[in-house]
Amino acid sequence: MDFIDLRQPDDWHLHLRDGAALAQTVAASASWAARAIVMPNLKPPVTTTALARSYRDRILAARPEGSNFEPLMTLYLTDNTAAEEIDRAVDSGFVHGVKLYPSGATTNSDHGVSDLAHCEAVLERMAERGLPLLIHGEVTDAEVDIFDRERVFVERTLGPLVERHPELRVVVEHITTHDAASFVRESPARVAATITPQHLLVNRNAMLVGGIRPHYYCLPILKRERDRQALVEAATSGDPSFFLGTDSAPHAVGAKESDCGCAGCFTALNALELYAEAFDAVGALDRLEAFASEFGPRFYGLPLNEGRVRLERATQTVAASMPFGELEVRPFRAGETLAFRRAGS
Ligand code: DOR
Ligand code: ZN
Repeated sequence: MDFIDLRQPDDWHLHLRDGAALAQTVAASASWAARAIVMPNLKPPVTTTALARSYRDRILAARPEGSNFEPLMTLYLTDNTAAEEIDRAVDSGFVHGVKLYPSGATTNSDHGVSDLAHCEAVLERMAERGLPLLIHGEVTDAEVDIFDRERVFVERTLGPLVERHPELRVVVEHITTHDAASFVRESPARVAATITPQHLLVNRNAMLVGGIRPHYYCLPILKRERDRQALVEAATSGDPSFFLGTDSAPHAVGAKESDCGCAGCFTALNALELYAEAFDAVGALDRLEAFASEFGPRFYGLPLNEGRVRLERATQTVAASMPFGELEVRPFRAGETLAFRRAGS
């Protein structure tokens, strides 16, 4: 097979950042995705529908000429989010989820939730109004090893949460473990998960063997080969509970290559090619379209895209760096060769 045609995909988990960087981040995603669920972890975070409206306007203004890229906005859940904010969000028509960051779990999560007990009324309203909860699924307790934080979250927090709110729709974002994949597979259809390209392609050796490679550092952190295999199995299984979410999370080169480097891989530009490589490696290219273009919209209750994209089996070299506002960002796999490329790119 020399090429594969797909219904145009969406990205169900994306960090676009803000300000001058939007011109590049929006263009990168709009080059292949029709829509994206946009993460709210700005500084300050997008905690209200009013803030989401102005962030959305900035994203729309940054679109390349002629682009119809549609940002699907999210709110950042805090200990103080009011149930009325959920009504405003749903009534706006442009907010499609509420993001739970356990406080301290990752980039700009300081205003996140310290204890879900503060959020029960909000979660109930979300369940009533059908607004999904998007979860960064890691505990933050200092005594829990970083490689165990997702597994412990699934046991301690996620399982009880899903039971306590039997109508709540949940997306466990960027799952990285066998444990999270099993939990989602065994849960009812109202519980779904996104999977990133890096977690399908590499394990923690890529980050730590032969030298420490900061551009492979993201959160939740890369895990073992057994986990990677479980994620590939989930993504290629045809189970509609697993769909595409890149978690593309650009940071300027200096912020990554530092004594205390930021978490995040910038995959937005070549994400589709990266996913194709992961699916092709297990002979499952025929399952890519459903994962990339069908299961996400179905979960979110949105129409499927009408456009098409074509991937060719032809090599391309990933750029060494790209502009990022006034700075530069190093794409995931910078300088390396990818096995696929988008027709016309
Ligand atoms: O690696 C990550 N980067 N994980 C996250 O959860 C946040 C993201 C970011 O915003 O940089
Ligand atoms: Zn993210």
